[in-house]
Amino acid sequence: MSTASGPITSSALRVDLAGVPLVTPMLTASGTCGYGPEYADALDYRMLGAFTTKSVTRHERPGNAPERIVEVRAGMLNAIGLANVGIDRFLAEKVPFIETMPTPVFVNVAGYTIEDYVYVAERIDALDCIAGIELNVSCPNVKDGLMFGTDPALLETVVSAVRAVVTRGRLIVKLSPNVTDIAVMARAALAGGADALSLINTYVGMSIDAGTRRPHIANVTGGLSGPAIKPLALFNVHRVYRQVTRSAGIPIVGMGGVQSASDALEFILAGATAVAVGTALFVDPTLPVKIAREIEQYLAETGTRHVSELVGALELPEA
Ligand SMILES: Cc1cc2nc3c(=O)[nH]c(=O)nc-3n(C[C@H](O)[C@H](O)[C@H](O)COP(=O)(O)O)c2cc1C
Repeated sequence: MSTASGPITSSALRVDLAGVPLVTPMLTASGTCGYGPEYADALDYRMLGAFTTKSVTRHERPGNAPERIVEVRAGMLNAIGLANVGIDRFLAEKVPFIETMPTPVFVNVAGYTIEDYVYVAERIDALDCIAGIELNVSCPNVKDGLMFGTDPALLETVVSAVRAVVTRGRLIVKLSPNVTDIAVMARAALAGGADALSLINTYVGMSIDAGTRRPHIANVTGGLSGPAIKPLALFNVHRVYRQVTRSAGIPIVGMGGVQSASDALEFILAGATAVAVGTALFVDPTLPVKIAREIEQYLAETGTRHVSELVGALELPEA
């Protein structure tokens, strides 16, 4: 067992995410922790399962006009609009720090055309310091951002085009919950060659200032994240695990409203191999490490030898 502040040494927490060894099942969620340096003082990366960067696109993007974030009951709405430095500046300015990070790093890649996705993914896959790519086909905050994530045929096409150039690192496909049946999208991502799935991205939502009769967010709609979406996210993970990934042997990174070890354990029991923390990082950047320690304690208290024994271990009522 590790001490409260020492390194996490327990092998009971180690997981394999599509061939990438993680010291704990806890990740950061894209867009909530920058490119690495931002949280380096607060979050000990040696004790993080893996780090996921903000989305990177082919061209630099300023993102949407303010207001881009508003707090709502039990969560937040954001319409950042994929503000990012673009692939050239990412390679020149962000990769040198990433090369020093003592944790596997996944680079989240977004795009508007298949060519854009392929162009960015190929350049990132050439980097030895990157464990893999998380393909963001699910951004609700840019025009046509959900196009690839809501049409199964398009999704399979973009995933297989990216798969063809991602030959070194792993390919995680991040699914949108803004669909009728997420299992259909999960099947399409697997057909395209995904090594793993991450779910969920945010839910489209809005908030109105009754005083001014105007939306709080300049983009009008935003993506809802935080505890408000946790039960919905959990259901999506449960559905995808039972209907698609369990039989295919493909791991899930679960996310959506995780704030505590019991939240993370719920995702694991529903079928997630690893769990990401997003919005809650804004309150406590050390949360993924704290949660890992609490899971370690839970394993000891319940006589569970390894966290992987809990993956999908949800017990359902008899049919
Ligand atoms: C401010 C903010 C920015 C985000 N930016 C991205 C992004 O660039 N790419 C992406 O795939 N997801 C992005 N997300 C979605 C998160 O990675 C995550 O899927 C979602 O917020 C659910 O997790 P949470 O409730 O723990 O935040 C963003 C979320 C927030 C709150």
